[in-house]
Amino acid sequence: MYNPFSLKDKTIFITGASSGIGRAVAIECSKLGADVIISGRNPERLQETFDALEGHNNKQFLAELQNHEDVNSLIDQIPLLDGIVFCAGYTKTLPFQFINEDELNAIMRINFIAPTLIAQSLLKKKKIKNGASIVFISSISGMYISFYGNSMYSASKGAINGMVKGMALDLANKNIRVNTVTPGMIQSNIINTGIITEEQINADIKKYPLKRYGNPNEVAYAVIYLLSDATTWITGSNLLIDGGYTLT
Ligand SMILES: NC(=O)c1ccc[n+]([C@@H]2O[C@H](COP(=O)([O-])OP(=O)(O)OC[C@H]3O[C@@H](n4cnc5c(N)ncnc54)[C@H](OP(=O)(O)O)[C@@H]3O)[C@@H](O)[C@H]2O)c1
Repeated sequence: MYNPFSLKDKTIFITGASSGIGRAVAIECSKLGADVIISGRNPERLQETFDALEGHNNKQFLAELQNHEDVNSLIDQIPLLDGIVFCAGYTKTLPFQFINEDELNAIMRINFIAPTLIAQSLLKKKKIKNGASIVFISSISGMYISFYGNSMYSASKGAINGMVKGMALDLANKNIRVNTVTPGMIQSNIINTGIITEEQINADIKKYPLKRYGNPNEVAYAVIYLLSDATTWITGSNLLIDGGYTLT
């Protein structure tokens, strides 16, 4: 059947696949025919994602992105790739007056430095095919706006958007495309950590022209668009997916 968004015969590596957006990306990629390599920290949740995948050539790896041994072992085991989606990330809410070096290092390490160095190592080890597509999950926080107490997270996401532009230039000679998907608020564990009250969430939802938060599948479809051969002329771009939030 004709489908320009098919991922058949592609091998895609997805970090943060044990939850939320990463899980949805993994499952939807497998439904579109990809072999999927997933990583996460929590073994039970990663297994749940793995069990929901279609096909028989999928692989799963546990890796804490702050742990160099885990990351090196992950890189060694990854096969030749047609696509990578860097979804793993976390947020820490602290007013700017209270941020400190340890917290700043942790958030930059997980959200920005680890995915950057993983991509570079995979390239050096020739595990990324010419013609591949790399997608980083950024956030409207950092690219367009921020939230109170969110300066460290915004910095880590803004860094991704900046780096992707230079990375796209440097990898264009290999025909490797590099893009970001930038979501507004998405229903997932990252917003269920108790840092935002239900009252605050309900008030915030009203600011969205489409009057709801997004869901992980809606981000997954944007990612699939960028992984697929439908976008072989898109690189260094940012795909905003925010229900109109940044219009207001
Ligand atoms: N939800 C939103 O509103 C929203 C909006 C814009 C952007 N984003 C971005 O979207 C991405 C996915 O977020 P989500 O909403 O799907 O969050 P989520 O449900 O909390 O999932 C986060 C994922 O990242 C993994 N992870 C976190 N810290 C890690 C570490 N130190 N080492 C390895 N893996 C780690 C988690 O692994 P375990 O579960 O195994 O620990 C999990 O798989 C993040 O980069 C986030 O910043 C989210």
